[in-house]
Amino acid sequence: FREINELRTYLKSERLASARQGKFIQTGLVPTMGYLHEGHASLLRKARGENDLVVLSIFVNPIQFGPNEDLDKYPRDEKNDLQLAEREGADAVFLPSVEEMYPVPTKTKVLVQQLTSRLCGASRPGHFDGVTTVVSKLMHIVQPDNAYFGQKDAQQAAVISQMVADLNFDVRIVPCPIVREKDGLALSSRNVYLSPEDRNAALVLSRSLLTLQSKVEAGEAVTVGQASEDIIHTISVEPRALIDYVEIVTFPGLSAMEPGQVLAEAEEEVLIAVAVKFGNTRLIDNIIVTKK
Ligand code: PAJ
Repeated sequence: FREINELRTYLKSERLASARQGKFIQTGLVPTMGYLHEGHASLLRKARGENDLVVLSIFVNPIQFGPNEDLDKYPRDEKNDLQLAEREGADAVFLPSVEEMYPVPTKTKVLVQQLTSRLCGASRPGHFDGVTTVVSKLMHIVQPDNAYFGQKDAQQAAVISQMVADLNFDVRIVPCPIVREKDGLALSSRNVYLSPEDRNAALVLSRSLLTLQSKVEAGEAVTVGQASEDIIHTISVEPRALIDYVEIVTFPGLSAMEPGQVLAEAEEEVLIAVAVKFGNTRLIDNIIVTKK
C-alpha cells in the first residue's frame, strides 16, 4: 500500500470480517526505513509469531535526518525489501511517499523530553522528534496492538516506550534483541557504506562491548568508570575510529551513573552505548547489563 487510505480500508475490512466471525484479531506493526536485513527480519518473525496481521512499514523519514546527514544517499532496495517481507510472512507492506506522509505544511510534532537530550539526541539534534512524530503517525494509521523495535537502537526504544506511556497509545512495545554478523558487527542498513578497511575496523565496537559483557557475566566487579575507560581505550587503539560518545546510563531511564558503581550491582538495567564514526559513516552499538 502506498496510500494511507488504502491501507486503512484494508485493515478495517480484515478486522470487520474477523469480528463478524466473533474473532478480534491482533495486529503487529514493524516500522522500518527499508534496505532490510536479518535484524529487520527478526522483528518480522517475532511479530508473525504474536499477531494475526503483520504490517511492515518502509519509509525513509526525512524529518529524522539532520541537514548534514545521509538522507539523500540512504540505501534503498524496494524489490529486495518486498521479497524479504513476503518470505517473513508480512500481510501488508506500507510504502508511503514523503508527500503522502507530510503533505505541506504540517504543523504538529510529537516531542519526548529529557530522554532525547542525551546520547544520540545530543549528537543528532531533532532526530528523536522526527522519530516520535513519524512513529505516532504510523501508529495512528495502523492502530497496532503490538509494535516491534530493536535494542540496536536502545534509546529509540526507550523514547518510544515513554511516548506510548505518556500519551496513552493503546499499543504494547516489544523490544527485540540485536542481531549481529558472525564476527560480531551489529547489522545495520548503513553497514553498506563501509569500505572493507572500515568494515574490519568497525569490529572494535562489538569487541569492546562483548568483552565487557563477558567480564560482567563472569562475575567481575567492573565499575562504570573502569568500563568506560576500557571501552574508550579499546576503540581509540583503532586509528580509523572517531568516537562520538561512550555512555553508561540506566535503562530505560537513561540517567547518569556514579563512576564507582559496580555494573552488576546496579538496581536498574544498565545501558552501555557507543557511537563511533568511520569516515562519514556513524555506527552505533550497545549492550544491556542486568543484575544477576
Ligand atoms: P531502521 O533503522 O530501518 O530500523 C527499523 C527497526 O529495526 C528498528 O526498531 C531497529 O532498532 C531495528 N533494527 C535495526 N538493526 C537491527 C539489528 N541489528 N538487530 C535488531 N534490530 C535491528 O529505526 C528506524 O528504522 C527508524 O528510526 C524508524 C523507527 C522506522 C522511524 O523512522
